[in-house]
Amino acid sequence: MPSVQALWFADGKLCVIDQRRLPLDRVVLELTQLSEAAEAIRNMTVRGAPTIGVAAAYAMVLAHAQGGYTAEQAAEILRSTRPTAHDLFVGVDIVRKAWEDGRDVVKVATDYRNSIVEQCHAIGIHGAPLFPRDANVLTHCNAGALATVEWGTALAPIRVAWREGRLPHVWVDETRPLLQGSRLTAWELREEGIPHTILADNAAGFLLQRKKVDLVIVGADRITTSGDFANKIGTYEKAVLAHEHGVPFYVAAPWSTFDPTIESGSAIPIEERAREEVTTFGGVPSAPADSPAWNPAFDVTPARLVTAFITPGGMVRPGDLKAFLKNRGEAH
Ligand code: MRU
Repeated sequence: MPSVQALWFADGKLCVIDQRRLPLDRVVLELTQLSEAAEAIRNMTVRGAPTIGVAAAYAMVLAHAQGGYTAEQAAEILRSTRPTAHDLFVGVDIVRKAWEDGRDVVKVATDYRNSIVEQCHAIGIHGAPLFPRDANVLTHCNAGALATVEWGTALAPIRVAWREGRLPHVWVDETRPLLQGSRLTAWELREEGIPHTILADNAAGFLLQRKKVDLVIVGADRITTSGDFANKIGTYEKAVLAHEHGVPFYVAAPWSTFDPTIESGSAIPIEERAREEVTTFGGVPSAPADSPAWNPAFDVTPARLVTAFITPGGMVRPGDLKAFLKNRGEAH
């Protein structure tokens, strides 16, 4: 079993690791109100698309227990928290339907949580054979257990390959501005003893020129039917660099990340976050007080730069994605 669990539901409370405090402090917050859970998603106490989806499913459970909301009112509050992550909408809607049908919402949310964990484990099993013996792999942001409840998406094949003794080393992009790579991915890898090295985001080009990188693997927040996908800002430039250097570029995701309703990446809503995330560092100003800043939380990588998607059902090339999703009943 992976050593980390991002959240759990116990005694009517949603318990979450406060990811803003890692790696210095491991603090667990107990959430009992819809408003608290919505704020925890918005302020990135919990983060990573699949974890956001599960947290939102349990947030619907909290609203149901609280009273004072219709299912649709609660769902609307949650849908506005982090608009890029498709998993958010899936997690909310699964519990909204159960609520409206009068079914057991705790069971439905827990089944959803368990399904995400199982899917991520399957991603690990399908993805691990990609790693040659003594592989060096580059990853961006945190697509580990913290981002998916357990296992991870990009980190799941890394975990499985490591346990099989076939992976010596992970290059970890720092991931400005909120440092999900250096704070969270490095923390998860260290917890499991997986060798890794952190690099500044802008060192990735030089890394690919000078060091051995066998493959790049990342997660996603939303994947369209054409295979264009949104992920943490900085992913696109890693994909361009991988292409330039002839390094395979893989994207790992559970079904909830695939959006069957849109084809082009240009239709993905991209969240823009506060200026202060860019103009401060650890709460200390790092830019002139009145300089404007642009802070898109995600970018969009075109399908042509993706070698393959690692799904719970196996590997899929971008050109085969539409047919693959249609066969599963996921595409329109
Ligand atoms: O803004 P964040 O930290 O929620 O962004 C997370 C990412 O971009 C992850 O790579 C993505 O959600 C995939 S996680 C399995």
